[in-house]
Amino acid sequence: MTQKPREIPLEDLLELDAAAELAVLAREIDKHDRLYYQKDAPVISDAEYDALRQRNAAIEARFPHLIRADSPSRRVGAAPAAGFAKVTHRVPMLSLGNAFSEEDITDFISGIRRFLKLKEDEPVEFVAEPKIDGLSISLRYEAGKFVQGATRGDGTTGEEVTENLRTIDGIPKSIKGKVPEVLEVRGEVYMSKKEFAALNARQEQAGDKVFANPRNAAAGSLRQKDSSVTASRPLHFFAYAWGEISDPPAGTHWDFLQGLEKWGFKVNPYAKICPGIDEILALYEEISRNRASLDYDIDGMVYKVNRIDWQNRLGFVSRAPRWAIAHKFPAEKAETIVKGIDIQVGRTGVLTPVARLEPVTVGGVVVANATLHNEDYIKELDVRIGDTVQIQRAGDVIPQVLAVVKDKRPRNTKAYQFPDRCPECGSIAVREEGEASWRCTGGLTCPAQAVERLKHFVSRNAFDIEGLGGKHIEAFWQEKILSSPADIFRLEEKNAEQIRAREGWGEKSADNLFAAIRQRRTVPLERFIYALGIRQVGQATGRLLAKQYGSLSAWRAAMKAAADADSEAYKELTAIDGIGPAMAEDLTAFFSETHNTEVLDDLQSLLTVEDFVQAAETSPVSGKTVVFTGALESLSRAEAKAKAESLGAKVAGSVSKKTDYVVIGADAGSKAKKARELGVAVLSEQDWLELIEGRAQG
Ligand code: IVH
Repeated sequence: MTQKPREIPLEDLLELDAAAELAVLAREIDKHDRLYYQKDAPVISDAEYDALRQRNAAIEARFPHLIRADSPSRRVGAAPAAGFAKVTHRVPMLSLGNAFSEEDITDFISGIRRFLKLKEDEPVEFVAEPKIDGLSISLRYEAGKFVQGATRGDGTTGEEVTENLRTIDGIPKSIKGKVPEVLEVRGEVYMSKKEFAALNARQEQAGDKVFANPRNAAAGSLRQKDSSVTASRPLHFFAYAWGEISDPPAGTHWDFLQGLEKWGFKVNPYAKICPGIDEILALYEEISRNRASLDYDIDGMVYKVNRIDWQNRLGFVSRAPRWAIAHKFPAEKAETIVKGIDIQVGRTGVLTPVARLEPVTVGGVVVANATLHNEDYIKELDVRIGDTVQIQRAGDVIPQVLAVVKDKRPRNTKAYQFPDRCPECGSIAVREEGEASWRCTGGLTCPAQAVERLKHFVSRNAFDIEGLGGKHIEAFWQEKILSSPADIFRLEEKNAEQIRAREGWGEKSADNLFAAIRQRRTVPLERFIYALGIRQVGQATGRLLAKQYGSLSAWRAAMKAAADADSEAYKELTAIDGIGPAMAEDLTAFFSETHNTEVLDDLQSLLTVEDFVQAAETSPVSGKTVVFTGALESLSRAEAKAKAESLGAKVAGSVSKKTDYVVIGADAGSKAKKARELGVAVLSEQDWLELIEGRAQG
């Protein structure tokens, strides 16, 4: 039905490769998010963007320990642009996971059934709705009056555009009838295709900016400083969800949609109840066939579990609900010529080939680069400089090279020879047995790696030093102002004059930078760990480690001790759910390198690294380590784990002296035995439920 981009099949993807690809994906997606959300000027099609996100999700699903702190899956969109007041969404505005095939939908549904532990004959009903390609907004009503409207922004903080939203016809200024005291209605603002064409014609005539597509036109029209400009633009609104709400919504999503209509909102007329997968797929086919004749852009279908009590139990996973999914329409493709193949060197020395392309428009966006992943990928497709290639772009993601159009190959092309030296430092590059990537062996001496590590150190999810971007790091490195992360915290003391005297820098920008750095002299442990850029240690792992060890010194001591694979420390490390032997090896390898411990000492002398603080919310199990074993009766393992974690417990995979509770289901095996041997409390499923429910009463 739908076609996926040609890429290294997931099963063949090695860890190194995966890490490198995730890094590239994070960077690309972030770039496209900014272009899309802040500039309203995407350079790739939605389908291409989705392909990037989907690939990212698939790799993360296979290598959960590689999930990066700055992974696109952990955030939605981009932070709001300067200029509008910011609104913190009381209930975050999340995004949706993507499905591209029938199989993805089957997996989605069976995942839900498993999570809810449904009996085989228990039906799960869905509501299917077109996925409107506009921009999502949240409308807040208090006592039936529209009081505030905001864009999604990064999902947590959006831009306040209340006055502009008031100019849109489909947005009631007050709602009548029985309405919750607080009601946030969420949905999509969009422009019709016809209106978009007419607007662009007017803009062109007037010599004003023309928009790439209706969605950008809608976004640009809504984010106007002057609401009379918004008023002059033809915008519409479809409602489809709620945010904060003081009374629980109806029992089903379908009834909620009916309620929205009664309150005066427009709900998409193609929304439909689907009793199962057959109806879902039939509707997908039908809408996809008729898509072009609709007067507004849609980029897929959204399926939502109809029962709201089930939605609540299913909850969320990072940025997306478990109870809903977006089924995207196929990606757009184009042909273009490979002008060259460049090699990028990453933080851990991985060499990633990138095809430089003759710029081509795919789905309304200009594409000039495409990842080639690694040597095998190039070999498999036999991509050569001069070749015409078919590329695919899905959503705002890195374009993929799908295939070489061999008929169009010019004479005298040569098979691409992957370099055996690092293009940046000239060190020998190696490709180890069983690995897909070539890696520069320059290690600490390779400037490209060092620079990438520094960039990582100051990046948004690490130290987040404002005003110290990639370009500055590169320049400071060149000028030898910066060579190790600790140097950043000595800049003001040692290099202030030099920096103030730099071209383009004045007193003010230098002082701002120093202030930003000073602000970051105190940093939470999890950020600190992530910032070190240890292989495989992303934001999620940083948090796991911080949670487990509590303080920097405890963590350092434990990592040193864990070098011995027979030690208790090693057992404790690998007992953390989400940390396996491969990651343990990278961690201990990092600590066995003297240079690294010196950098750590240096940083520790300059910074205050805050101990990990448990979530303020206390529950009978917060801070406790729990192991689930055997088959539970009333809930699935996944739901049990999600629930325990939401109550502040750590869920481990194996029993040790540090385990507080072992919850045993039917046929529990060796773990129950081990718990008894170690004297760890063993609970039945019932005991566990009573224990955690104690919280609800207290
Ligand atoms: S539901 C928690 N329904 O798609 C679930 N979203 O890729 C909230 N969108 O952020 C989203 N049509 O901007 C939902 N019928 C629909 C939608 C829809 C368009 C957008 C929305 C969302 C994005 C996710």
